[in-house]
Amino acid sequence: MKIIMLGAPGAGKGTQAKKIAEKYMIPHISTGDIFRANIKNGTELGKKAKTYMDQGLLVPDELVVDLVVDRVGQDDAKNGYVLDGFPRTIPQAQALDSALEAIGEKVDYAINVEVPDENIIRRMSGRRACVACGATYHLVHIPPKQEGICDTCGKELILRDDDKPETVKKRLDVYHEQTQPLIDYYTEKGILKEVDGTVDMADVFAAITDILGA
Ligand code: AP5
Ligand code: MG
Repeated sequence: MKIIMLGAPGAGKGTQAKKIAEKYMIPHISTGDIFRANIKNGTELGKKAKTYMDQGLLVPDELVVDLVVDRVGQDDAKNGYVLDGFPRTIPQAQALDSALEAIGEKVDYAINVEVPDENIIRRMSGRRACVACGATYHLVHIPPKQEGICDTCGKELILRDDDKPETVKKRLDVYHEQTQPLIDYYTEKGILKEVDGTVDMADVFAAITDILGA
């Protein structure tokens, strides 16, 4: 099962993708997490990506496409995967489609997690992420057991650099301009599914499993 998660920044793509990956036993591939890991490790890719990410802009397609095409070709992705944060532009979607077509495959579902802009900024200021393992919390909705400390690995929780309100606003503009057109793109392919992302996380997940099947 090959799944794409669509939705604005902070819609809950990462939260739901983790649950999907666990239930259906497929890898969760998040381009944002891949870039953040590269930034943390000080790689060349990380240095390049950071200059765009900190401004709320998209990393150029040429730095993203090959990385993802390579990742989905790895052994653990043979039975499918859930892509979170990719594709984000029409050229990225076309590049993914042609790479899959070349091996006789295709995307099965594009799930759009729908959340209005006004909810997003509130959510993002409450998000805390683990510097080490990438686990995500929310000060109100999923607080860690101990303030500022990751439940999973015990390391420090931080506010992401790009979660400052002014950067979130820029990310939303970029989303509407460059990523939202993918909704029409996947609707035309007949694989777009919409879920309401404003309800409780467990209810969002229930709506997704209704679509994907038991
Ligand atoms: P990325 O890391 O993908 O960021 P994003 O798309 O902006 O999405 P987020 O991770 O911020 O939000 P999410 O939808 O995963 O929400 P989450 O589950 O955490 O990308 C970062 C940057 O990298 C981009 O800006 C770009 O520069 C670059 N990049 C990445 N991929 C790229 C690509 N393909 N091309 C070019 N550039 C790329 O939830 C948010 C918060 O809300 C959490 O605190 C969560 O606990 C809470 N929450 C979740 N669900 C609910 C709910 N139902 N109710 C209440 N709270 C909830
Ligand atoms: Mg995310």
